[in-house]
Amino acid sequence: MRVSSSLQATAELAGWAQRLEQSALQQMLVATARPGIISFALGMPAVEFFPAESLAEATARVLSVNAGALQYSPPLQSLKQHVRELMKRRGVDCREEQIFLTAGAQQGMSLLSRLLLEPGGSVITEELIYSGFQQVLDPFQPNVLTVSTDAETGMDVEAVEQYLKSGARPSFIYSITDGHNPLSVRLSSSKRKRLVELAEQYSVPIVEDDAYGFLCYEDPLPPLRALSERWVFYVGSFSKILAPALRVGWIVVPEELVLPLSVIKESTDIDAAPLSQRIVNAYLDTGQLPAQIEMLRTQYGLRRDTMLRALAENFPDAASWTKPDCGFFVWVELPSTVDVDELFRRALEDEHVAFIPGHAFSVNKKRSSSIRLNFSHPTTARIEEGIPRLARVLKAKLW
Ligand SMILES: Cc1ncc(COP(=O)(O)O)c(C=O)c1O
Repeated sequence: MRVSSSLQATAELAGWAQRLEQSALQQMLVATARPGIISFALGMPAVEFFPAESLAEATARVLSVNAGALQYSPPLQSLKQHVRELMKRRGVDCREEQIFLTAGAQQGMSLLSRLLLEPGGSVITEELIYSGFQQVLDPFQPNVLTVSTDAETGMDVEAVEQYLKSGARPSFIYSITDGHNPLSVRLSSSKRKRLVELAEQYSVPIVEDDAYGFLCYEDPLPPLRALSERWVFYVGSFSKILAPALRVGWIVVPEELVLPLSVIKESTDIDAAPLSQRIVNAYLDTGQLPAQIEMLRTQYGLRRDTMLRALAENFPDAASWTKPDCGFFVWVELPSTVDVDELFRRALEDEHVAFIPGHAFSVNKKRSSSIRLNFSHPTTARIEEGIPRLARVLKAKLW
């Protein structure tokens, strides 16, 4: 639904805002929030794994010691120290002066886009990519140069090279190196190296969205930022490893960019969210995060294995799917005869199961017969119940 239609009588919207549509994901949220639905749709962490008690204690500590925690305040230096330690666990050596605190990865990408992208400029990204990033680009109306993604090795880096060789100079290249959303692939080591070489050779920065990077189930690879301090702008978040409602994340950039970023952020939300930053900081002071991340890797790994097993046991042979090393999703390719919108409707109505049709992530609105399934939010029991139900619709109606 166009969001402008209800406003037209009162206000003349900016050109790009007139074309705004409710995202497929927002529509899904409404459709799948009905009681009784088993949802494999949204990429939410599991509520039962949030360290609510520890966060409650951290909040109480923060507020009992200092009512000033409720005041406007600059970014919390001690949290930057914690982030620096966390980045070391990710194989990245950075300085506190290079860390910029944000209200989550989404804001990190939004601020970097405002910093780097001219209206009508260009960016390179994959054709199937996190829709939240596409929304970030909307106001700039950029020329989005897309490349494909290999199911085993990730982004087509040769195609990136072709663009650059033929003269394209995008404001940045967007990469989800680990735990790709929606494709769940990770970029191979050799492609990581090559992509960073290209960024350096052509002086084009890479915005690396590492929202899922701490949740790898197999041996983690160091992110692109470990290969280049100058040309990789790293975006991190506590949303998936602690809790998204805290709205705390960070960016790692060359230090000369921290000041302009702080000016842009100030114009956006003053200094959101200082209280959350203090709560996360107090939680991190207790030293519990490494064990929390280990627990999440084990538990989400279990859910991933349960989903892969359920798919193997129930889905028809003509379907194929990825085995995610990292992140929250399984990407399933169905035969081209399957109409995934129809499958979505039937699955919701007949079997009360939800997923996201793959084309919701297509930059060029390309139709496809793929679907994205989330395994982090449903319990193993719900996965074991939901996948056979989805398979039933698939076999009964559409095969
Ligand atoms: C790839 C990717 N990047 C960024 C985000 C946004 O994360 P945050 O809650 O930190 O803003 C998400 C959320 O699902 C995501 O999937």
